[in-house]
Amino acid sequence: MTALSQITTDRILILDFGSQYSQLIARRVREAGVYSEMHPFDMDSNAIKAFNPKGIILSGGPESVYLENSPKAPQIVFELGVPVLGICYGFQTMSAQLGGSVVAGKVHEFGHAQVQINHRDRLIGNLKDNADDESVCDVLNVWMSHGDKVANLPEGFGATSSTPSCAFASASDETRGFYGVQFHPEVTHTAKGVQLISNFVHGICGCDSLWNSENIIEMRVAQLRKQIGDEKVLLGLSGGVDSSVVAALLHKAIGDQLTCVFVDNGLLRLNEGEQVMQMFAKNMGIHVIRADAENDFLSALAGVTDPEAKRKIIGYKFIEVFSEEARKLDGVKFLAQGTIYPDVIESAKTKNGKAHVIKSHHNVGGLPDDLHFELVEPLRDLFKDEVRKLGVALGLPHEMIYRHPFPGPGLGVRILGEIRKEYADILRVADDIFMQELRASGWYDKTAQAFAVFCPVKSVGVVGDARRYAWVISLRAVETVDFMTARFAYLPYELVDKISTRIMNEIKDVSRVVYDVSSKPPATIEWE
Ligand code: XMP
Repeated sequence: MTALSQITTDRILILDFGSQYSQLIARRVREAGVYSEMHPFDMDSNAIKAFNPKGIILSGGPESVYLENSPKAPQIVFELGVPVLGICYGFQTMSAQLGGSVVAGKVHEFGHAQVQINHRDRLIGNLKDNADDESVCDVLNVWMSHGDKVANLPEGFGATSSTPSCAFASASDETRGFYGVQFHPEVTHTAKGVQLISNFVHGICGCDSLWNSENIIEMRVAQLRKQIGDEKVLLGLSGGVDSSVVAALLHKAIGDQLTCVFVDNGLLRLNEGEQVMQMFAKNMGIHVIRADAENDFLSALAGVTDPEAKRKIIGYKFIEVFSEEARKLDGVKFLAQGTIYPDVIESAKTKNGKAHVIKSHHNVGGLPDDLHFELVEPLRDLFKDEVRKLGVALGLPHEMIYRHPFPGPGLGVRILGEIRKEYADILRVADDIFMQELRASGWYDKTAQAFAVFCPVKSVGVVGDARRYAWVISLRAVETVDFMTARFAYLPYELVDKISTRIMNEIKDVSRVVYDVSSKPPATIEWE
């Protein structure tokens, strides 16, 4: 069995120069089974030493190394005696800092490129994409995204691959353990990117594959027991992925010392409250207090139509109800939070980055002063995909763990304008029909988020011989990776037809169903 301390001892440090792909590097390293952390490029030299990495990766970035004040890697990176891999800008700054030079390329390379392998160092190893055709020179299909390029390699370096417009698509000085690639091995378009990163972290840096769900759970359970001791912990359980995984993990670590508070604000999906209670309280034996606050929320929201005002009231009410439940409990020392690693990275980027980020959608930030909790954040160093894998390994149902995201204000931002219980009830049923059909057709997993929206306008319909004057439901389904931009999903017309027919047949208060064909930008994913 692995000593727990070893799981993160084999670790890779990623210095971030601001590329849009930097987080992907950290994820790929972890997918290769090796713990990695991402820090700003100007991380303090002593902190780098103390981190004690087995290897360092310099990310890409938007700058040009030949401009004044361009970001540089701390010199210690090249003096620690551990292997270094520079990616794109990382390769360029490494080259420039070690005595080579970088110029603006005449041709900008963006997108797919085929690099020809000239020399197989340990980074390229036996990778090739032309497996079946031995007559072709060895090539790799890669993703390029650069204007600048390395013009002269530092002494000791040799080229390992090239493209017609980039003589040094990759290069290395194997004696010193320095490697550079102009392309992006971290993006999936680079066909052998994962293997290349694996060659670096395993073959070159000598890291073992210890970072996996089973080991992470074992390590985290031990850490939680040590941190919490005999004390009591409170968790706001929403039924979303992060808080659910925190609940399962804490329950495994400290059992009955955990109390969860689940706030039913009346803006949840169909049967959601019952499902949460069934799974966590009944099946898993976790102590969950269900606060039925539907009336409380809906009366506070009565007559309010402005989206921001609605959000504020929902957030504020949540804190009020949650705090009230917390005050009823005796001697709780810790508050558990589902903060995950991307939030931590984001906060480190801000100049006055707070030590603890409390995700606004967890809605437990800003608790009253008389509740003095210490924080427990067991997912703080995990990416979302790692959290999901952990959830499955902890026995949570796959369907729940791979559910579309649901916003903190819930149906509150999907009922346009004033929120009323009758609207929420209609919307819940319509949304449920939509989800049933998406799942049955296999489209649920092909969309990143899908839901129904209640439009408080009445439209005329005809049912049998009778006129129906009733509400409009809009269907929203999007494809996106990062939720920053999104395209409306091209659902088949037959499917949309089936869903709309069912909604109008099964809900008498709906006379019309429309499909939202707006992408983000300029529209947002939620309607409010
Ligand atoms: P928008 O509407 O901004 O949504 O395109 C992007 C993603 O964020 C989710 N979202 C929220 N999540 N609290 C949350 O927890 C919120 O207030 C909130 N508003 C939007 C939205 O569901 C989508 O996934």
